[in-house]
Amino acid sequence: MDSSIEFAQSRLSVKGVPEIFRLYRIRAAAKMTNHLKIWHPFTQEALDPPPIPIARAEGAYIYTTTGRKIIDAISSWWVNIHGHCHPAIMKALQEQTRKLDHVLLAGFSHETIAFLCLKLRKVLHPNLEHIFFSDNGSTAVEVALKIAVQYWENVGHPEKRSLVTLEHAYHGDTVGAMSVSADSGFTQSFRQLLFPVHRVHSAYCYRCPVGKTRAACNIDCLDALARLLEEKHTEIAAVIVEPLLQGAGGMIIHPVEFLQGVRTLCDQYDVLLIADEVLTGFGRCGKMFACGLAGVVPDLMCLSKGLTGGVLPMGATVCTNRVHEAFVSEDRARTFYHGHSYTGNPLAAAAAIASLEIFEREPVFERIRAIAKIHEERLAAIQDHPAVGEVRSIGTVAVVELRADDPGYFSALRPKLYDFFMSTGVLLRPLGNTIYVLPPYVISPEDLHFVHDRIADALKGL
Ligand SMILES: Cc1ncc(COP(=O)(O)O)c(C=O)c1O
Repeated sequence: MDSSIEFAQSRLSVKGVPEIFRLYRIRAAAKMTNHLKIWHPFTQEALDPPPIPIARAEGAYIYTTTGRKIIDAISSWWVNIHGHCHPAIMKALQEQTRKLDHVLLAGFSHETIAFLCLKLRKVLHPNLEHIFFSDNGSTAVEVALKIAVQYWENVGHPEKRSLVTLEHAYHGDTVGAMSVSADSGFTQSFRQLLFPVHRVHSAYCYRCPVGKTRAACNIDCLDALARLLEEKHTEIAAVIVEPLLQGAGGMIIHPVEFLQGVRTLCDQYDVLLIADEVLTGFGRCGKMFACGLAGVVPDLMCLSKGLTGGVLPMGATVCTNRVHEAFVSEDRARTFYHGHSYTGNPLAAAAAIASLEIFEREPVFERIRAIAKIHEERLAAIQDHPAVGEVRSIGTVAVVELRADDPGYFSALRPKLYDFFMSTGVLLRPLGNTIYVLPPYVISPEDLHFVHDRIADALKGL
C-alpha cells in the first residue's frame, strides 16, 4: 500500500479525534484514488522498503502508527539532540505561536531572534561577531561560500574566488554545497552544473591518502593543502572543512592537529577558513563546537541541525568582524544580496532559544560524556572482530567501518544491515559498509547498550 494512504488510514484510529473529523478522514482516504504521492528523499522506490508511518515521538524513541517503538539511534538525520518533543522546546513553541508567526528579516527584526543572538553569543567564540540566518545546513553553506567569494571582491581582490575542499566532504545537496562536496554517486548526475573546486586530502587515517599510519605520521596528508596554497593562494578565497568529523562521506574522524594545520595554512596564505559545523555543532563531538576541541577559530562557521534542538529548520552562518566589515559601505554594490523567505523565523528561533536553555539547565555535557564512555567501551570490545576494519569515536558518535569488497555508500552491506537493525527496533542507517551510532543525548545507558548489542549481533552474521 502507498505510504500516504497507509498513513491517512492509520490516523483514523487516533483516539480522541472527534467523530466528525474521523468520518471526514475516512471519506478523504477513500477518495484518494488520485492522491498526491510523496517523493521521499534519498529513496529508491523500486528497491527500498516502503516508508514507515510514524505517529509520535518522545525522547530517544519514535513510534509507528501500529504502536511499534523504535530507538532513534541517528537522531532523525543528526538533528535531534535533547530527545523528541522535549517539553521545554514544545512549550516555547506554543508560547511563540501566541506572539509572532513570521516576519521578513529585511528591514525588520524581532525580539525572539534578538534573544537567540544573546544566547548564541554565550556559546560562540567571541571573534565570531555576526550572524546571517537561513533555512538549513545547505543554505548555511551556500551563504558561507558566497560571503567568502564576495568578501575578496569587496576588499579589492576579485581574483581570489576559487574554493578548496577535502576529499570525502559532504556539505549539502544544493548546487554550491554539492560543488564543494566530494565527487561521488550523490553528485555525478549534476557534474555539468557544479563549479570547479580544488580538492585536497582529508585525514582519513584508516585509508591514509599518503600511505602512513597515525602512529608514524606527522599529519603528512596536510602537505597537499600546503602545496596548493603555496602555488595558488592568490586565486583562492576559502578552504571549507567539516571540522574533525566528516559525516556523510563515511564518518571520518580527523586528528585535531589536522584542523589546526588547516587553520595555520589559511593564516599563512591569507585564505578564509569556513568550518561547516552543521553536523558537529551543539555538543555532537563532545564540546559545543568541534572547532573548540582543536582550539581553532574559523572565519566563517555554518550551523543548523541541532541549532533548534532538531525541531524546526533553521540555518545560520556566523563570521568575524573582519569579514562582515567588508560588506558595510555606502556603495550598494558591496551589499550581500542574499536572503530566504523564512530567514530568522520566530518559531524556529524560539525552539533554538529553548534548546540552548536546555544546555544551561540540564546536565547535557554529562550525558554526552556518558555516551562517549559507553561508545568507547563497546567499540573496544568489537575492534578485533574479523569483519571490522576500524572502530572510531568522537563525542556522541561511534563508528564501525566494516571490511567490504565494495566499500563506500553503495556497498551491498547497507540494505542488509539497515533491515536487520530495523527488525530489532533500532534505527541505524549505515553509510554503506560504515555503521555509526549518533543518538539524541537523552538516550538511556540501557538503550545505548541495546543498540551496541544489536551491532554485535550484526557482526555475528558477517
Ligand atoms: C556537514 C554538513 N553540512 C551540510 C549539511 C546539509 O544540511 P541540510 O540537510 O540541512 O541541508 C549536512 C547534512 O547532513 C551536513 O552533514
